[in-house]
Amino acid sequence: MRSAPINHPLEALTTHPALYEKKFGVVDADITWDEPLIVEDDVWVAHNVVILPSCKFIGRGAVIGAGAILTKTVERYAVMVGNPARKIRDRFDPELAAAIDATRWWELDTPNCAGWCSAKATWSTILASRPSRPGAGASRSAASGL
Ligand SMILES: CC(C)(COP(=O)(O)OP(=O)(O)OC[C@H]1O[C@@H](n2cnc3c(N)ncnc32)[C@H](O)[C@@H]1OP(=O)(O)O)[C@@H](O)C(=O)NCCC(=O)NCCS
Repeated sequence: MRSAPINHPLEALTTHPALYEKKFGVVDADITWDEPLIVEDDVWVAHNVVILPSCKFIGRGAVIGAGAILTKTVERYAVMVGNPARKIRDRFDPELAAAIDATRWWELDTPNCAGWCSAKATWSTILASRPSRPGAGASRSAASGL
């Protein structure tokens, strides 16, 4: 994966880095950028993905397919592929995504996830047997932390 946070200056005399890197002796200081790329929790970025400057946000649980070129905001739980990347589907329907978000599971320590997190358990089966928020509900399991 490569993140390209800025473009070279397209309208200037030259696109050479001399116009934004001090080491070439043209500008007095390195020119930096203010707007960070935000990548939320549990994003899977597969091999050879390129994130262009126009993409500043990748939402929680998104999947970026191999070789994708990201050009814009990626919604939570979206599966993105291609150049330019396009959404081929959502991982979950909106109701299930909201229920997952309500658990705030990504804030748990790994040991607290270990009892209920496995590759075979789907979110539908997990949520069918758990309260929707860590720490909420009388049936909370002290062992699992949920
Ligand atoms: C993104 C990904 C997870 C999607 O898997 P999936 O949901 O099973 O998708 P499908 O195989 O059903 O493909 C759906 C469509 O998207 C296309 N597609 C899937 N992945 C693609 C990719 N990376 N780039 C371009 N197109 C892709 C398929 O050709 C198919 O198109 P069609 O509907 O026109 O036939 C998977 O294709 C991928 O890219 N995995 C990355 C694997 C990898 O890099 N592993 C290393 C470990 S990090």
